[in-house]
Amino acid sequence: MKKACVIGWPIKHSRSPLIHGYWLKEHRIEGRYEKVAVRPEELAAFLESLAANGFQGCNVTVPHKQQAFALADIAHDEAKAVGAANTLWLDEEGRLHADNTDIYGFMSHLDRSAPGWNDRERSVVLLGAGGAARAILSGLLKAGVSQLRLLNRTRERAEELAASFGAGVEVGNWANRDKELAGCGLLVNATSLGMEGSPPLELSLDALPKDAVVADIVYAPLETALLARARARGCRIVDGLGMLLHQAVPGFERWFGVRPEVSDELRALIVADLKR
Ligand code: ATR
Repeated sequence: MKKACVIGWPIKHSRSPLIHGYWLKEHRIEGRYEKVAVRPEELAAFLESLAANGFQGCNVTVPHKQQAFALADIAHDEAKAVGAANTLWLDEEGRLHADNTDIYGFMSHLDRSAPGWNDRERSVVLLGAGGAARAILSGLLKAGVSQLRLLNRTRERAEELAASFGAGVEVGNWANRDKELAGCGLLVNATSLGMEGSPPLELSLDALPKDAVVADIVYAPLETALLARARARGCRIVDGLGMLLHQAVPGFERWFGVRPEVSDELRALIVADLKR
């Protein structure tokens, strides 16, 4: 029986077992996907014993993403671009591979939910400079975005992030964020603002073109105040849950040999769980 897992500290709230469990059942695969709480100081030993414990690989979540990337034998391009891994697998020689599928997750959900989002005449405004923003920035640049404005409360973090990607990324002023939305074709919130338990994202959409696309990485609540306001304005919206579902696809294929689909039924299952 093939086995995979998700590791983090804490790990209680991870939805990954629900997603992979759904696909295992759908494809009638005799496999298991478990949740394992791993303390930071135990990470290296855990990864060394993956094969011995019968795992094909694992998903990695907070706070292990950078360390997992550093510990892997072979890092793939997207993991290198972000400096962090969320998906690990063993090859036949027992080498540990690391990739980052958050980029794929965000970009495939964006492409599906808002086809034609990449209007090169208009700018992209990205809010945030943490790990999520780094993954999204890397995906947007690879997709050919040429005008990107990066805004973050702590400006130095935005400058550092912009510098690591070279030309094409300009850092704007967080305090001017309302005005930065003029002429914007895509707005992405990659901060934790608007998440249950976090402060709201204070942002006026008055300057945002009505045909812009607005994406949020926050998925609890499913429709954030930002997305609700964008929808009311007539903008196309892209929620955070899609990114979570799509990032799981490549890992499942690596471990269990079948490329799964993100169906409406799977989405409904996770939505119901988020409401519990
Ligand atoms: P992740 O790796 O998940 O993206 P992170 O590195 O903690 O998480 O980043 C969280 C993001 O939300 C950062 O951009 C952070 O801004 P700072 O770099 O200034 O900390 C942003 N954020 C969190 N709380 C915020 C707040 N109250 N106001 C503005 N931005 C906030």
